[in-house]
Amino acid sequence: MSQSSPTVVVLAAGEGTRMKSGTPKVLHEVLGRSLLGHVLSATEQLEPSSTVVVVGHGRDIVTGHLTDVAPWAVPVVQRQQNGTGHAVRVAIDAIPDVAGVVVVVGGDTPLLTSRTLADLVAVHQQRGASATVLTARLDDPAGYGRVVRGHDDEVRRIVEDRDADADTLALREINSGIYAFNATALRSALGRLTADNSQGEEYLTDVVALLVDEGLRVGAMVVNDPDEVIGVNDRVQLAEADVILRRRINEQWMRAGVTIIDPATTRIGSDVSIDPDAVIEPWTILEGTTRIGRGAVVGPGAHLVDCIVGEEATVRFSTADGAEIGQNASVGPYTYLRPGTRLAQGAKAGAFVEAKNANIGEGSKVPHLSYVGDADIGEGSNIGAATVFVNYDGVDKHRTVIGDHVRIGSDTMLIAPVTVGDGAYTAAGSVITDDVPPGAMGVARARQRTIRGWVLRRRRGTASAKAAEAAQHRGDVGADGDTGGDSGDNDRGVDGPDRRDAAEGTDA
Ligand code: UD1
Ligand code: CA
Repeated sequence: MSQSSPTVVVLAAGEGTRMKSGTPKVLHEVLGRSLLGHVLSATEQLEPSSTVVVVGHGRDIVTGHLTDVAPWAVPVVQRQQNGTGHAVRVAIDAIPDVAGVVVVVGGDTPLLTSRTLADLVAVHQQRGASATVLTARLDDPAGYGRVVRGHDDEVRRIVEDRDADADTLALREINSGIYAFNATALRSALGRLTADNSQGEEYLTDVVALLVDEGLRVGAMVVNDPDEVIGVNDRVQLAEADVILRRRINEQWMRAGVTIIDPATTRIGSDVSIDPDAVIEPWTILEGTTRIGRGAVVGPGAHLVDCIVGEEATVRFSTADGAEIGQNASVGPYTYLRPGTRLAQGAKAGAFVEAKNANIGEGSKVPHLSYVGDADIGEGSNIGAATVFVNYDGVDKHRTVIGDHVRIGSDTMLIAPVTVGDGAYTAAGSVITDDVPPGAMGVARARQRTIRGWVLRRRRGTASAKAAEAAQHRGDVGADGDTGGDSGDNDRGVDGPDRRDAAEGTDA
């Protein structure tokens, strides 16, 4: 551990009343990561010797969240929220041997970058200050603490918005709530804080005046980009932070070689990764740990959560959650892929197809209007339109296994558990309850009856009857005759189906 590795204290005990929420403020999310998660991913880059997170309101759920996103961070409980100064005191008391630099950050500043934090620590150390405040100059400083400087331009104190007089309120330099402190100076000043202010709280900001009064130097570093220090206190600021972070993430991917056709309608989560030459079309939302491969085209209108999209694959107007879409595979439009769906290379899930827990093998196609649940489909197979993998018997789910180069006829119901062997066919409209061996044709449907002349007898005078009559006069085959009853012309046996059974599937 290098001598300069700082101790980080993140303040996250406040309720965040202005959010008007049942969820602690720091757990509200911006682009798939909590406010606290954003802050911790920035502080982590400082390689701190330790990271303490002060928790209070909703401490169990905040602590649980820390275990998920930042297991290296140590939660310390502030039982009563007596102010930011009190919160830091509680944190420092929990690290008895604290020395060197202490970085304090609010848990509600999700746009802060690790680079700015590192600069703050460097500036603090170079100047040998007892404290260095990260500040910003804002056109609208309302709500923030104001930085009051002396005639020599040195920082004198910080005055909270609600405790400020008109002259102080007019100052545009604000306290970001992010600081670097000398540990010893901080510890001694914290012991002398009072709650003599409009909120009756111990303000961390009062440490500044205490240090100055002691003759110690307090510096300030003005942030280049004021967006970085936006503190999220309500849902309006949450949405503002979202817009800024979204633009930042989009620009990062564009600079890395990804084409984003319409950044304004594209949302890419903080933990998504995209390879160069991928194209993100408008109205696309990529969330969770989604990974997009080189040359893939995603969108328009794709919503992917925790998905893997292979190179050169396409996903249009579709939603997918926990799905793996192979290289060159094609999804959409209007497809719903649920967890456990895996499309191998060159596979297709087309319009109005829903799939879950299903392996769709290399080059296999489910082009239209099907439900594929709990299935293993081999290579080069085709699933005809409106096929349903009937996986649920009302109590349990069962799997269906389809071999290689199978042709499932349109509107086949595959009643699981059932297996269709390699190279086998099913006839359109079949309800397949028994395994179909390799190379066989499974036919399971009622035989058609054709009742000749029925319309002429039973629907006399209708347009249909007139059309039939006209066809009869022209001598069209099959239009005449009024004998009724079953036709003998349709006698295709189950053992020897002709091409028409097999041709009833649909193809891409
Ligand atoms: C604070 C600063 C203000 C600064 C602003 C920047 C003080 C007194 N004021 O004001 O100068 O401009 O941040 O965003 O420090 N917290 C605790 N325990 C407490 C109180 C707060 O852990 O007892 C945590 C909150 O959860 C939050 C952070 O400290 O993450 C800041 O508290 P908040 O109430 O948001 O302070 P501001 O009023 O924004
Ligand atoms: Ca705040």
